[in-house]
Amino acid sequence: MKAIARTDRSRFSPAERRGVYRAIYERRDIRSQFLSRPVADRVLGRLLDAAHHGPSVGFMQPWDFILIRDGAVRRSIHQCFLEANRHASERYSGQRRTLYDSLKLAAILEAPVNLCITCDRERPLGNGLGRQTDPTTDLYSTACAIENLWLAARAESLGVGWVSILDFDRLRELLAIPARAVPVAYLCVGYVSSFPTSPMLESAGWERRQNLKRLIHFDRWGTLDEQRAAGMLATDKS
Ligand SMILES: Cc1cc2nc3c(=O)[nH]c(=O)nc-3n(C[C@H](O)[C@H](O)[C@H](O)COP(=O)(O)O)c2cc1C
Repeated sequence: MKAIARTDRSRFSPAERRGVYRAIYERRDIRSQFLSRPVADRVLGRLLDAAHHGPSVGFMQPWDFILIRDGAVRRSIHQCFLEANRHASERYSGQRRTLYDSLKLAAILEAPVNLCITCDRERPLGNGLGRQTDPTTDLYSTACAIENLWLAARAESLGVGWVSILDFDRLRELLAIPARAVPVAYLCVGYVSSFPTSPMLESAGWERRQNLKRLIHFDRWGTLDEQRAAGMLATDKS
C-alpha cells in the first residue's frame, strides 16, 4: 500500500502534466495588456516562493527580490528606460528603426508591481560548488529562478514583462543595489486583459520562432537530422 502511494506521488497525473505544459506554452512577455487591478501580497508571495525554489549552483540561492510599488521610484526607472531606449533605437536605421520605434518595450508605469531580481555574486552559500570552473553559473541560477516566477505568474493569470533596456548603473543607484549584486532582471507584473497567443515580437514582424528541427544535433554539433528530430517532436503532449 505504502509503495503505491510513493509511486503515485512521484508521478504527475495527465491533468497536472497538461497544466505544466499549458503554463509553459501560454507564458508570454507582457507589455501592452496590463490592468491597474492590484496584486495581493499573498499572491506575490507565491511567485517569490516559486522563484526561491529554482535550481541554483551549489544551492547558492544567489537571488534577492526588490519589490517596487512606489510611483516615484517607478517614474525614475521609467525615465531611465526612455533614455536607454532612445540610445537603443539609434542603433537601427530604415524600416527596422521604424519598426523598433513602434514597439512597446516596457510597462513600468502601467504594471502595478515592478520587481528587480538581483544576483549576489559573493553569497557564500554553496561554498563555490559548481562555480570553481564557471563562476557565471550564479547568474544562470538567478535566470532559472526568474523563469520559475514567470511560469508561476502565468498559472496565477498574472502577466510579466522583462525590461532589459535600462542603464544598469543608474538602476543600481536608484534602487541602492550594492556593488556585489547584479540586477539580472527588471520585471513588470500585473493582471492582464489577455495573454496573446504568440510573442509580440513575432506578431509585430520583428522575429520569428525558429524551426526546432533545425536546432537538434545528435552526439556532436553539426549533425542535424530533421527527419529524426521530426519523429521526436511528433510526441503527444496530452
Ligand atoms: C533576458 C530577457 C530580456 C528581455 N528584455 C526585454 C525588453 O527589454 N523589452 C521587451 O519588450 N521584451 C524583453 N524581453 C522579452 C522577449 O522579447 C520575449 O521573451 C520574446 O520576444 C518571446 O516572447 P514571449 O516571452 O512572449 O514568448 C526579454 C526577455 C528576456 C528573456
